[in-house]
Amino acid sequence: MISLACELAGVRFANPIWAASGTFGFGRPYADLYPLRKLGAIVSKGLTVRPRTGNSGTRLYETPSGIMNSIGLENPGIRAFLERELPEMTTYGTAVIVNLGGGSIPEYVEGARLLDDYCQWLQASGQKAVDMLELNISCPNVKEGGLAFGLDTEQARKLVKEVRQATSLPLIIKLAPGARDLTEMARMCEYEGADGVSLINTIQAMAIDIRQRRSVFDRAYAGLSGPAIKPIALRMVHQVARAVSIPVVGVGGISSASDIVEFVMAGATAVQIGTYNMMNLRAGDTLAEQLIELMNEEGIMSLEEIRGII
Ligand code: DOR
Repeated sequence: MISLACELAGVRFANPIWAASGTFGFGRPYADLYPLRKLGAIVSKGLTVRPRTGNSGTRLYETPSGIMNSIGLENPGIRAFLERELPEMTTYGTAVIVNLGGGSIPEYVEGARLLDDYCQWLQASGQKAVDMLELNISCPNVKEGGLAFGLDTEQARKLVKEVRQATSLPLIIKLAPGARDLTEMARMCEYEGADGVSLINTIQAMAIDIRQRRSVFDRAYAGLSGPAIKPIALRMVHQVARAVSIPVVGVGGISSASDIVEFVMAGATAVQIGTYNMMNLRAGDTLAEQLIELMNEEGIMSLEEIRGII
């Protein structure tokens, strides 16, 4: 019997297929389409301490190679999330991962503390809390914070160190594909006590409206996701998995069971499905079954057997 179960930082996941941040909201619209326990985890939309309205102008733009976005971390704020969204999210029978954004180190730390306090309170009253924190240091669409940390190892070090002290939740760091030295960035995360890294976030890209003679996006650049970035993400996961001994979560253009197997062979412990959830609203309904089918065909009994074999 093939098992897809996997473990990361002491947390057990029914399977390695997670919904990526920002592509699944807080799960609610998808819960009407299929049982969300078919996913190993749901990663929340990026949350910040204060609510954010997000960027002006075009926010989503479809291209033949994938989707471009300039959302700008629109979110209701972490307090509203904890009160209004988390209670329902914890009923889906899948792990809950909170993606935390911020504009400055104090803001990230405040968010991490708020989350930690709330989880401790929930646990003390016997309720299910959050399983993991994903620290978003790689949003390409905001002015302060975000990507600034994701590009520079020393800036990120201060942040990771402080957030590590502020929370007892398992912590993974979402890395930016544009980091000046991705290997050094991942090693720093391990050194500062992160339980894992996830990569990649979207790649900064551009689209021009030739008639208007301007960028499609108000902020000129936006984040590209989808099929075009898959081979890049795969290379980066492979590179990082070889450099660290903490688990690596692969993200970037994954849209089939064979994509998942590629990422596991490159060293990923789990994967996140992003753009594909938006192109095919029922993506998460069938991927785990397709993965088992493919493993059967290939005579692969468990994911450990193939993890990092390339
Ligand atoms: O592409 C992205 N867009 N990555 C993020 O981390 C955040 C998101 C946004 O809100 O702009």
